[in-house]
Amino acid sequence: MIRQARARVCGRDVRFLDAGAGWPVLLIHAFPVNADMWRPQLERVPEGWRYIAPDVRGFGPEAAPAGSFTLDDVAADLAALLDHLKLDRAVIGGLSMGGYITMALLRRSPERFDGIILADTRAEADTPEGLAGRRQMIDLVRAKGAGAVADQMLPKLLSASAREHQPELVASVRRMIASTSAEALAAALEAMMGRPDSSADLSRVNCPALVLVGADDEVTPEASARAIEKRIERSRVVVLPAAGHLSNLESPDAFSRALSDFLASNM
Ligand code: MLT
Repeated sequence: MIRQARARVCGRDVRFLDAGAGWPVLLIHAFPVNADMWRPQLERVPEGWRYIAPDVRGFGPEAAPAGSFTLDDVAADLAALLDHLKLDRAVIGGLSMGGYITMALLRRSPERFDGIILADTRAEADTPEGLAGRRQMIDLVRAKGAGAVADQMLPKLLSASAREHQPELVASVRRMIASTSAEALAAALEAMMGRPDSSADLSRVNCPALVLVGADDEVTPEASARAIEKRIERSRVVVLPAAGHLSNLESPDAFSRALSDFLASNM
């Protein structure tokens, strides 16, 4: 059963989904969706574990206006959420933007990590082309709203096969994007533009790491996962066949199994 709760942290309400009981795993969502993207994993939480999936500020249903923020601010929110839940340590991870936030949290509080999960993400900062693309998307979202971002991003977030054969998945990702304000989308794009290269931070990780990637991920392809694996001593890459960028949604069983195998064999 998935519980939904709200906590007051850093002066704002944070919605989070919570499932299972036992040792905690914090799962941070991608851009431009929200914590609901983790429902397939929360539905499959293994015995003895507790999965917690918060919304990033500005994201999720009925989110308060976020204003401008950095990924370090989001990492501070999540550290405060762990404090609120009286959790000193957890396995912590995220997918794509959630991975960038995980790396920001790692810089801030490495002692809180029992393990790290980096899915469909990259360690490097944005390239000049990437920054130009983000500026265009900020202009697009300010001019045309979240629906235009959904139109532009859906072909990158989901594989061609999922877009053709899984209309319900496409609709649910579109709903998550459309539920986010243009202001929060623009603020998150700016926050991602400002993130540093985390490669050197990953070299200092001494807990076990699971690196996941969809075989058909075109945003952060397998080479990005392999570069992370090279940096972290105790890491392992799992490539999920027939999955695009939002690999946990396209291959919920394989993703969840890789996660629970990692927890069972490393913790
Ligand atoms: C995400 O899925 O979080 C985004 O595609 C990340 C990004 O745009 O760098």
